[in-house]
Amino acid sequence: MLQLVIHGGAGSLEGKTAEAQNIHQSLCRIWEETFELLKKKTAEEAVIHGIRLLEDDPVFNAGTGSKLQADGEVRMSAALMDGVKNRFSGVINVQNIRFPIEAAALLSKEKNKVLSADQATEFCRKHGFDEHDPVTPARLQEYEQKCSGIHGTVGIVALDKKGSIIAGTSTGGIGHEIPGRVSDSPTVAGTYASSKAGVSCTGVGEQITQQAAAAKIVTRVEDGMSLHEAVSKTLMESNNFNYSFGLISLDANGQIEVGKTAALGEVYYAYHNGEGIETFYN
Ligand code: GLY
Repeated sequence: MLQLVIHGGAGSLEGKTAEAQNIHQSLCRIWEETFELLKKKTAEEAVIHGIRLLEDDPVFNAGTGSKLQADGEVRMSAALMDGVKNRFSGVINVQNIRFPIEAAALLSKEKNKVLSADQATEFCRKHGFDEHDPVTPARLQEYEQKCSGIHGTVGIVALDKKGSIIAGTSTGGIGHEIPGRVSDSPTVAGTYASSKAGVSCTGVGEQITQQAAAAKIVTRVEDGMSLHEAVSKTLMESNNFNYSFGLISLDANGQIEVGKTAALGEVYYAYHNGEGIETFYN
């Protein structure tokens, strides 16, 4: 069975109809293109391809269109987890590349699987990643107006015909953070998978990390809970702290769960519900 769920971050778009529509349209287009690939290729190839599309779309806070940190620099992070191979790789605060998820994918083949900062960027250059400026005029304006927030991050979880579950996440952070801040996305709190389930989170990185959200949900499924129970229990516990985050997830049976804590507006998600593509917008 094939299954695919994607997200373009989280936040609150009440009253911002044009932005919500843009996000909805991008998510539908990217879900469709990624699913076409999943029919022919592996979950890993589909997740990498889909996240590249999300990173290239300036409407999302990842890759091109990433938010600027307090010193005016963009630093991006991404992670990829192969649930069957139990293989996590990631890149933290990499700069001036177009596709951070490609760096995470490349690191999955190395002995050392997570690299950060200048050394991560140097690793990318050594492997032929071209110089790319991810700053867009809209993000520069947000930076100048001192906007920060939780609207950001992209992620995909896919199940392929061989039963592989792959989770991937990519983020430009929250904007105006202390330079060098590390979010949940390139950690097992934000991106995790096993042969039974996979999760990608979005929202306030510190809170997702404090809850070890993605790893906890997957472990609960491994220990016998249904995905629905594992997601509900984890979100309920996070509500006790008034945390603000959401997630997409799927299990080996192709069951999809999208969830969020009470404090979060919404998760910008998309998946096929059997009749058509369902998103946060329709
Ligand atoms: N969840 C993304 C971040 O906190 O940067």
